[in-house]
Amino acid sequence: MKIKLKKQVIDILKVLRRKKSEIYATELVNELDIDYIVLMSAVNDLIDAKLGGFKEEEIFSISLNEEGISYLKKGLPERQLINILLKDKIKEIEINNYLKTSNMDKKIFFVGISNMKKNRWVTQSKATGENKLFLIAEEFPETGLEKFMNKFGEQNQFNYSDLTKVELIQYDILNKRKLINKIQKTHRIIFLTGKGKKINLSEIEELKQVGRITSEMIRDGTWKEFDLKPFDVTKPGPLLKAGKIHPVINLINEIREIFISMGFTEIRGPIVESAFFNFDALFQPQDHPAREMHDTFYLNNPKVAKLPEKERVKAVKDTHENGGDSGSQGWRYKWDENVAKKTLLRTHTTATTIRRLAQYYRNNEVPPIKVFSIDRVFRNEKVDKTHLAEFMQIEGIVIGDNVTLSNLIAILKEFYRKMGFEKIVTRPGFFPYTEPSMEIAVYYDKLGEWVEMGGSGIFRPEVTYPWGIKNPTRVLAWGMGLERLAMLKFGRKDIRDLYINPIKWLRQESY
Ligand code: PHE
Repeated sequence: MKIKLKKQVIDILKVLRRKKSEIYATELVNELDIDYIVLMSAVNDLIDAKLGGFKEEEIFSISLNEEGISYLKKGLPERQLINILLKDKIKEIEINNYLKTSNMDKKIFFVGISNMKKNRWVTQSKATGENKLFLIAEEFPETGLEKFMNKFGEQNQFNYSDLTKVELIQYDILNKRKLINKIQKTHRIIFLTGKGKKINLSEIEELKQVGRITSEMIRDGTWKEFDLKPFDVTKPGPLLKAGKIHPVINLINEIREIFISMGFTEIRGPIVESAFFNFDALFQPQDHPAREMHDTFYLNNPKVAKLPEKERVKAVKDTHENGGDSGSQGWRYKWDENVAKKTLLRTHTTATTIRRLAQYYRNNEVPPIKVFSIDRVFRNEKVDKTHLAEFMQIEGIVIGDNVTLSNLIAILKEFYRKMGFEKIVTRPGFFPYTEPSMEIAVYYDKLGEWVEMGGSGIFRPEVTYPWGIKNPTRVLAWGMGLERLAMLKFGRKDIRDLYINPIKWLRQESY
């Protein structure tokens, strides 16, 4: 039986037979002036007919980076520096003076000096009482390193594997000096099988294949001459660069839906908070270290916040000073209303939670109440791979009669199960406003690790009594980081990616 191939595939087969040996796909693309995709789809047809195939090869191509290119133009720091001396026929120079005349960045200057010494152009000595450099060479020909670098002037990219032994040494030096870009590329090499080389072209018949039948083909009957191309549903479709919802927003919506499905409603509160709701109402003493400037962004404008009803402020004040009616002794210090009036960017959404307790009190509500919030908080942190100064918390409370720690664990388990985490552990923790307190960690299969997610606990009487929430009514509470969860979900190693928005990632992330 004859092998049926499309005309295009037969053409490519013929070219390959003329070549006799293997060829890079990219070369063939240039030579035949066709699309890469068209070529590879033809190669796939050759594979199906057992006539050809392809293999992959990793190639590292190297080029100078921006700094490297600038040195290619104006010389390496050591060359720039020696030229200064040669221009004015200087034989010795005090080092700080040299730095000044060179007008160079200090770091680069010293890199240059160290390489001048390595090249045995100069020596450094303090023998004269000054820190001086002395010229010790008479000629300063182009170094091996410079020769190697100049190659990039003629051709800006090389294959790493083409470097000679000597060049490899120079390459290593440039690489260590951080002047090199190294890019890994996968190249496909196309070849013919034994059958592909030997087959007699008369055994191959041109396949007339069409992707669709037109009305004309039906009218004039030519459709009978064509094969209909089958759909390959396993092939990825073309990349759609359509606008879409940001992954973090998607995640927030998912979390929102989970809480709503568990019978919770969403609450929101102000970003600009009073210390009263952020700290005092949470029974954090006014000299608590977490309130200090290095954690909290205090505000100058507005400078003071309005406090709630007088008698509620008094209840909080009493709790701090002597425990009020909570059964506690309080912190036993003089509570200062002015400290509570300070304004700040909320450091946790627990401030918003307390506002909800205040509303519960005002409206004479009855349990159970289940609310959550997903909102932004601020802390004066140095931003790095794992920290942001502005981030999101997922927070929730249940106000209920006789609710217990087991209920809290069950809610958290249920939440994380719905998020796709089967295993969670709770460990004893500490927060000034909960007793008992628990930390929550989830097991992340892909890393085989437990990942800390946040804190939780039962609000202390010192927190709930000022709002009339008294035994046996209790408040279960938790607060977790959203970005941690997002990093796990999206496999991002750098927390900043979530907001810097690397476009490649955003395109890949599914809807
Ligand atoms: N507010 C705590 C934090 O920001 C989390 C928390 C909320 C802990 C509620 C216990 C109860 O880390």
